[in-house]
Amino acid sequence: MSGPVDLKADVAEILVSEEAIQERVRELGQRISDDYRGRNLTLVSVLKGSLPFMADLMRAIDVPVRIDLMEVSSYGGTATESSGLVRILKDLSASIADEDVLLVEDIIDTGLTLNYLIRYLRGKNPASLRICTLLDKPARRLVDIPVDYTGFTIEDRFVVGYGLDYGELYRNLRFVGVLRPEVYSGGG
Ligand code: IMP
Repeated sequence: MSGPVDLKADVAEILVSEEAIQERVRELGQRISDDYRGRNLTLVSVLKGSLPFMADLMRAIDVPVRIDLMEVSSYGGTATESSGLVRILKDLSASIADEDVLLVEDIIDTGLTLNYLIRYLRGKNPASLRICTLLDKPARRLVDIPVDYTGFTIEDRFVVGYGLDYGELYRNLRFVGVLRPEVYSGGG
């Protein structure tokens, strides 16, 4: 068993800095505000990874919004690979029928999780459904997903921070980074 996790010492490289994230979130908030003025916007985010992005993005939006939260777990995968099998741990708490829904995601990797969620939410008859993701890893996409708002397109690396975890840790880092290889391999 290795010693306690040292969050910052475990990071090999910062891919997206705190400043870059904050600036991009402000831009996305402005675009979303312009696009949804006069409509009934509901932001739906998916716990836990999207929590910091949702919290910052909603405050960068200056039109009225409702928010709702879902939690899903993908099962059958590993700590760094999603399987596409999705279980809903927490469902929406209110109807989204006739609402303009913007699904707020942390990262789109294979797209399997989002593909499932899109079909699920469409079944609830929203007036419209769009996708906003902080990070996009197109290299690994298995299903075609129409993404309407993207923060950053990144290369195919497993990233942590700003909500994203490895083994449930590192979510509270204020930037998006890559861990040292020995951390991923469990060598501490
Ligand atoms: P997908 O179904 O392969 O698109 O994976 C989506 C989910 O896998 C995300 O919402 C994350 O929870 C997780 N995920 C994918 N890539 C990463 C990563 O690089 N770091 C941390 N979590 C990731």
